[in-house]
This record gives sequence, structure tokens and C-alpha cells, in this order.
Amino acid sequence: MSGKPIRTALVTGNSSGLGLGLTRMLMRQGAAVYGLSRRGCPEETAGDVRVDLARYEDIAPAMAQLLDGVERLDLVVLNAGLLGQIQSMQEADIAELRQLMDVNVWANKPILDHLLAHGIEVGQIIAISSGASVSGNFGWSGYSISKAALNMFVQLYAHEFPDTHMHALAPGLVDTAMQGFISDAVDLERFPALKRLQEARGTDAMPDNEAVAQQILESLARLRDAPSGRFVDLRDLPKP
Ligand SMILES: NC(=O)c1ccc[n+]([C@@H]2O[C@H](COP(=O)([O-])OP(=O)(O)OC[C@H]3O[C@@H](n4cnc5c(N)ncnc54)[C@H](OP(=O)(O)O)[C@@H]3O)[C@@H](O)[C@H]2O)c1
Repeated sequence: MSGKPIRTALVTGNSSGLGLGLTRMLMRQGAAVYGLSRRGCPEETAGDVRVDLARYEDIAPAMAQLLDGVERLDLVVLNAGLLGQIQSMQEADIAELRQLMDVNVWANKPILDHLLAHGIEVGQIIAISSGASVSGNFGWSGYSISKAALNMFVQLYAHEFPDTHMHALAPGLVDTAMQGFISDAVDLERFPALKRLQEARGTDAMPDNEAVAQQILESLARLRDAPSGRFVDLRDLPKP
């Protein structure tokens, strides 16, 4: 692990997948980890509040409960996210598109606003974005739009955290429930861009949640070399 050790962290969406992997790796290095999700984190963490991040009005009270007495977070990972249906834009239901924006983008606003309003010092913020935020492949629909919006959300909030390094980070492929859905439930003939993902599953091209979490934690110092507010793809960072 490069740079200063992380003693306190907030990870959203830590009940499964990448968020759970990050929580476990951070706890293994001795960090106190606080988290938000609907199902709750299966690990005994420093703090865990169950909240539906699609319910905007519930997020500020959840943050107040979660971070009562916390004055500094070395790392904040805005990780919670939804994939939605793989579909054409014409087929996409507007209620689903709105929900994707609510969870993948707007839920992060009361989270960051709470940190600012309560003067909680933050060392580094990472919002988990995706290569889909820039690729625009057929079928990615509201997910791509929400992650592209998340990139700009990070760029704008970076001005309001002048003493904090803040990036939108695409983690590359991670073998989680989200990828399981893609390879099991999607018509790969119709959406050929997804074939690459199906082929990667079970190979080194799609590591598991803890392996990618470790890569992210090892990348934190190198990430700080990029200007705050930028979108960065983990796979493009210079190797340590
Ligand atoms: N897997 C990949 O290859 C990949 C690639 C690029 C980017 N990403 C991004 O990585 C992040 C983590 O995804 P993952 O692959 O680890 O998938 P995952 O296993 O499905 O994890 C998603 C996490 O987000 C939480 N979440 C979703 N909707 C929520 C809601 N309404 N309220 C509260 N929490 C909610 C889930 O918690 P609950 O269900 O308990 O609420 C869960 O902990 C996402 O932002 C995703 O877009 C993943």
C-alpha cells in the first residue's frame, strides 16, 4: 500500500461486490470502515446504516446517524450503483432511467453535502465510475448516461473540496453480481459489446472484488498525481 495508511473510510454500497471487497481490504489494514447500503454489510464494521439510496430524503439522516462523532475520513468511496436493463434507448422506461440517475448520481449529493456542512475533513474521494461512461456502446442505456453524469458531478464537486483529491475512477471489469447479470440475462447476439465481458468471466481479465479493491487501494497515491476532478481509468494508470 503506497502513501499514508488509511485509518477511517466511508464506503457506500458495501453489502456486496466491489464495496464489500474494499471494506474487507481496508479492515485488514486496520481501518475503521463506515458504510451505507440496503442489505447491510456482512462484516462487523465501525458503522453500518441500512438506507435505500433511491430515497433522497432518507440519506441525510442516515449520514448523521452513521458519522456521529466522526471528524475525519481518510478515504470516501462513492461506490453504490445500479446497472439497470441492457436495452436500446427507445425501450428504456423513464422511471428506470430516473432511478439510475437517483442512485448512481444524485444520492451522492446529500452524502458530500453532509461532509461539507459538518466540516468533516476528507483525505481523498473516489466515485466509482465505469468505462461505459465514455464508450457509449449499444445497450448501456441509462447506466452509461448516469456514469457520464457522475464524471461531471465529480468535476464540479472537486471545486468545493479544494483540499481533497477527488476522482471518478473506472475500476475495469470486476467479477460481481453486476457482471453475473450481464452474462446470464443479456441477449449477447443483440448486444455484441457484451460478449467481451462474458468471455472475460472466470479469467484474469475479470478479477474478483477483493483483487480489484486491492488494486484501487494501491493506486491511491498515483491517482493523486492526476488533477482533482478528473475521470481516470484504473487500467490506464502507470504501473507501480
Ligand atoms: N462489476 C463491474 O465490472 C463494474 C465495472 C465498472 C464499474 N462498476 C461499478 O462498481 C460499483 C459496484 O458495483 P458491483 O459490481 O460491486 O455490483 P454489486 O455487487 O451489485 O454492488 C452494488 C452495491 O451498490 C449497492 N446499492 C445498489 N442500489 C442501492 C440502493 N438503492 N441503495 C443503497 N445501496 C444500493 C448495493 O447494496 P444493496 O443491494 O444492499 O442496497 C451493493 O452493495 C457500481 O457503482 C458499478 O457501477 C462495476
